[in-house]
Amino acid sequence: MGLHSKIIGTGSYVPPNKLTNFDLEAMLDTSDEWIQQRSGIITRYWVDAETCTSDLAFEASKIAIEKSGLKTSDIDMIVFATITPDHDFPGCGVFLQRKLGLPGIACLDIRQACSGFIYALAIADNFIKGGTHKNILVVGAEIHSKGMDKTPEGRNISVLFGDGAGACVVSACDVQKPAKDPHVINTFLHADGTYAEELWLPGPGSNLGPDRFSQDLLDRKLHYPEMKGKTVFVHAIKRMCEVLEESINASQYSLDDIDIFLFHQANMRINSKVAEILKLPESKVFNTIQDFGNTTAATIPIGMDVALRDGVLKPGMLVGSAAFGSGFAWASGLWRM
Ligand SMILES: CC(C)(COP(=O)(O)OP(=O)(O)OC[C@H]1O[C@@H](n2cnc3c(N)ncnc32)[C@H](O)[C@@H]1OP(=O)(O)O)[C@@H](O)C(=O)NCCC(=O)NCCS
Repeated sequence: MGLHSKIIGTGSYVPPNKLTNFDLEAMLDTSDEWIQQRSGIITRYWVDAETCTSDLAFEASKIAIEKSGLKTSDIDMIVFATITPDHDFPGCGVFLQRKLGLPGIACLDIRQACSGFIYALAIADNFIKGGTHKNILVVGAEIHSKGMDKTPEGRNISVLFGDGAGACVVSACDVQKPAKDPHVINTFLHADGTYAEELWLPGPGSNLGPDRFSQDLLDRKLHYPEMKGKTVFVHAIKRMCEVLEESINASQYSLDDIDIFLFHQANMRINSKVAEILKLPESKVFNTIQDFGNTTAATIPIGMDVALRDGVLKPGMLVGSAAFGSGFAWASGLWRM
């Protein structure tokens, strides 16, 4: 079948500081009951003041590279998905590259939010199929806790998001038996900027008048994410169903053939609804949102790593993945582990 890519090692990392819903009650004027009922979240992890996004990515990447059996020096590209980078520029890729001691290799930064990991995986898969790169480190990492409005005004968002990182090594392979050999089968990527303001972080930015950053920006709290929860909810369900079916229809498989679904973790109710509409057994949908909250670009690689560690995901299994988020951007991926 020619040149393909496969995932050969995974890793994940969350910071040590775990917060329950009860820990947020006083700070955000919320309740454990509201959070669990609306989102399914029970705990999430928040970093300390000294930790940055590329630190989390570094921890997850070390594990992924070790599990891949490769040497760090075998990595020839980094694709880093995040919307909460260490700095505006340069992107997180180069900071991770420096921590890993890999000067010279290409670094890409992907900003497609919750769909960022699948976008990054698609890029890695295509660079490998193009024959220019062999072992690509794909990372999704976020620190949301430092960028949210942690007052009752921001509670609709601040209860949902957590910090964390997931990584995997994607390597070139030759596929002899498609029904057995591990490989990325397909990826589909979409976006619709019509809805850009439905889930976004307005500032700082060049569309805010004479200065990217101003006191006015701070006063209007434009440096905090804004979300129209109900709109996001409705579109997420529709698009995740659509794009997953697109992956299935382009493959030789049916939904029944999928062993495990690794969906983006935005809301337990979104994933339950997708499962209900597509008639997927709930037991095949692997969720981690209850433990980690929404870690945006990190949810899918964290889920993949935890599922492997728990033995729910095993080598040779067929994985179906779908994500939806800011942009709006949505994506799907099908791979054999
Ligand atoms: C955010 C979300 C959980 C909110 O659920 P919802 O049922 O739409 O709730 P609403 O926003 O309509 O708010 C309902 C009420 O709860 C209140 N509320 C909002 N956040 C709250 C919180 N954290 N704690 C307690 N009450 C809260 C609201 O003020 C509102 O009160 P009111 O009825 O008195 O006005 C839900 O819309 C959602 O998950 N959307 C998708 C979000 C998402 O996936 N984002 C990431 C994208 S990848």
